[in-house]
Amino acid sequence: MASTLSRLGNWFNERAPGFMPMYRKHMTEYYAPKNFNLWYYFGSLALLVLVNQIVTGIFLTMNYKTSAAEAFNSVEYIMRDVEWGWLIRYMHSTGASLFFVVVFLHMFRGIMYGSFKKPRELVWILGMLIFLVLMAEAFMGYVLPWGNMSFWGAKVIISLFGTIPFIGDTLVQWIMGDYLPADSTLNRFFALHVIALPLVLLLLVVLHLAALHEVGSNNPDGVDVKHGPKGNRWSPDKPKDAIPFHPYYTVKDSFGVGFFLMIAAFIIFFAPTFGGWFLEHDNFTPANNLVTPSHIKPSWYFTPFYAILRMIPSFFGTAIWGVIGMFGAILLLALLPWLDQGAVRSVRYRGMGYRIALGVLVVSFLALGLVGAGVTAELIPAWFPGADVTTVENAFGRLMVLGYFGFFVFVWIYTRFGFEKTKPVPERVTMHD
Ligand code: HEM
Repeated sequence: MASTLSRLGNWFNERAPGFMPMYRKHMTEYYAPKNFNLWYYFGSLALLVLVNQIVTGIFLTMNYKTSAAEAFNSVEYIMRDVEWGWLIRYMHSTGASLFFVVVFLHMFRGIMYGSFKKPRELVWILGMLIFLVLMAEAFMGYVLPWGNMSFWGAKVIISLFGTIPFIGDTLVQWIMGDYLPADSTLNRFFALHVIALPLVLLLLVVLHLAALHEVGSNNPDGVDVKHGPKGNRWSPDKPKDAIPFHPYYTVKDSFGVGFFLMIAAFIIFFAPTFGGWFLEHDNFTPANNLVTPSHIKPSWYFTPFYAILRMIPSFFGTAIWGVIGMFGAILLLALLPWLDQGAVRSVRYRGMGYRIALGVLVVSFLALGLVGAGVTAELIPAWFPGADVTTVENAFGRLMVLGYFGFFVFVWIYTRFGFEKTKPVPERVTMHD
């Protein structure tokens, strides 16, 4: 058996001599810091969910019908009549939400440990491009079942382009291919969702990892690996601060995968709509341009950005400021490597001001998520009886918008003008976590 395998290996190596060195470079000879913690699971989990979305997506496409007349019923057909169709669909819809859970945690890890700082700016920028494409991918996927929220969500979001001066209205019609979201909109969104954007996403993920493997991984201490090899650069000093990715981290990541699959399976089998958060109630009725859902809101992962859009008021006769704020919120994240000029990477050794600001960022982002999802509007009458809901919601929401943008302004001033007092950074990576 062993000799058959090794003969097969030799046969392969003779014909593709470049493959083995590539495998070694990225697996057995990719040296990663030995102090990775729980936060380092989310990169491999994001890969897992990406594969899940592609595989389940292929099977959904086999029975989905791309037309405004048939789309909704074809999804019902998948749910009721296609063998295991319900499972494939729930794996795909739950996967979409879990993708964002995983990616948000993955991004937060990067901010917490300063992984976006030199020399990993390119890894970060590629990550932000992935995030943008992922949002477009999720938005277009949401339109495909052609439920009532698909229709109105598409209408509201595409109409945002109408705020652009001069070309706005024409642009909206050009994107829809009609005066309302219609058959033509559905067809082009299908083409982009099933082929164009997944291809771009896959390419970006390959580049993201290639860029990371050029410079080596950061770690929870944010200090460079001092002894032994780092990334793909070999230096024979001992003792070592880094260990080969395979087998050490492939084994560790498998544990993360097992744990994650248990949570995913629980949701898929017992709570696939997740109380209306993963699949909205209003999307179980077919698209109808004459009946507006009582509360139009996007999927939960868009609600923080949607709240920024809603909370920024119109002035000078245009609503474009909200749109600028929403896209600006994402742009500022991409600019973090240049806004944050602190000398220390990891939050463990950063100044108190930075730690508090990071807390404010997290609280404002989560609170904006609740505002965008309409949760605060539901709570206000109970918490502030008799108060005007819109006034209280706007006051709270705008405070949270200030908190979100305030983080970036504060961090720039705090680090640019030398206000940050950092703690001493350890010489070598530590294992105390
Ligand atoms: C499809 C989505 C994504 C996939 C599959 C993915 C995959 C990965 C993997 C496998 C790693 C190495 C393991 C790890 O450090 O966790 C990694 C590292 C990293 N990713 Fe992503 N990623 C994705 C999205 C993002 C996004 C949206 C960002 C941020 C904007 C980002 C920023 C980073 C950074 C900064 C690192 C280096 C972390 C460090 O060395 O401390 N990634 N990514």
